[in-house]
Amino acid sequence: MAVIRSVIRGVGAHLPKRIMTNADLAKIVDTTDEWIVERSGIRQRHIAADDELTSTLGIAASHQALVRAGIDPVDIDLVVCATATPDRTFPSTAVRIQSGLGVTKGAAFDVQAVCSGFVYAMTIADNFIKTGQSKRALVVGSETFSRILDWTDRSTCVLFGDGAGAVVLEAQPQHGTKEDRGILSTLIRSDGRFEDLLYVDGGPGTTKTVGHLRMNGREVFRHAVQKISGVIEETLVATGFAADEIDLYVPHQANVRILDGIGKKLGVHPDKIIKTLDKHGNTSAASIPLALNQAFEEHRVREGSLVLMEAMGGGFTWGAVLARM
Ligand code: ACO
Repeated sequence: MAVIRSVIRGVGAHLPKRIMTNADLAKIVDTTDEWIVERSGIRQRHIAADDELTSTLGIAASHQALVRAGIDPVDIDLVVCATATPDRTFPSTAVRIQSGLGVTKGAAFDVQAVCSGFVYAMTIADNFIKTGQSKRALVVGSETFSRILDWTDRSTCVLFGDGAGAVVLEAQPQHGTKEDRGILSTLIRSDGRFEDLLYVDGGPGTTKTVGHLRMNGREVFRHAVQKISGVIEETLVATGFAADEIDLYVPHQANVRILDGIGKKLGVHPDKIIKTLDKHGNTSAASIPLALNQAFEEHRVREGSLVLMEAMGGGFTWGAVLARM
């Protein structure tokens, strides 16, 4: 039976020029390269310049994705931007990316699910495509977390960085089988009871300020392994794939120990889990498309590869997307 699937036509990424190493951080807060590498796997992060905004990074990543897809911006009819660090409270960063690229059709809006944002945005775009409301969608994950970090708090400021990634999705008829190209499954979850474990202590409605990121790292860690493994298992059961049939796991890049923990729990060989956080730290909604971009550039995925993307973030929110490239 013919079905419409969202096929990934192009991937792009962009990181700001300025690199901040662990040694640079050790000059600002009481920390060491050894501690950061051992506890998180992060070696450096990119920091946006004052004139680089979330939209600036998103436009650069989107441009690359569109060029690689061979698709003209005027043919895009949906822009979904996942971000927790918008340029402004409103309008959405998505409309700024839309105008920056010269997209004039359809709709553009932001999705706020913090580190799960890209998984949420892919899920929404996939549903727009499957219902025929969109033919070609741009899904962007872009963040400038450096702007919401408390640079005196060593337990958080060492973990995050800035960056953006984007994918172009296109509606294509497929056979309706497991062998189809495109998004095969999406699954998103949230549980607001855990809000206080990871949040920003400001906002227009509460403090009228932007605020800073606050996190109970140990608790977040515990929930992350549990919830992400759970959502991967659910995805595999729903689609009938075994864990080792996935060609590459492309997880949200938060902590190498979380990724190792998930791999161990599911019995997945470490080589099948891409790890890029050593180069850019936790870039929240940008981390999955950044990792997917690296996977393409390193030829770890190609047309036909089965890729499982997953994330957990503030809220808590979490989810997974299974796609054949
Ligand atoms: N440098 C040196 N010491 C530090 C630092 C630092 N940067 N930060 C904390 N410490 C100290 C603590 O003060 C503590 O000292 P104490 O024992 O004297 O009290 C000690 O190191 C251990 O602290 P813990 O918090 O218990 O360290 P832990 O092993 O849990 O590692 C970490 C901390 C890396 C934050 C870990 O808990 C983690 O990764 N959690 C998940 C965080 C995460 O992934 N968040 C994002 C997911 S969702 C999203 O992406 C938004």
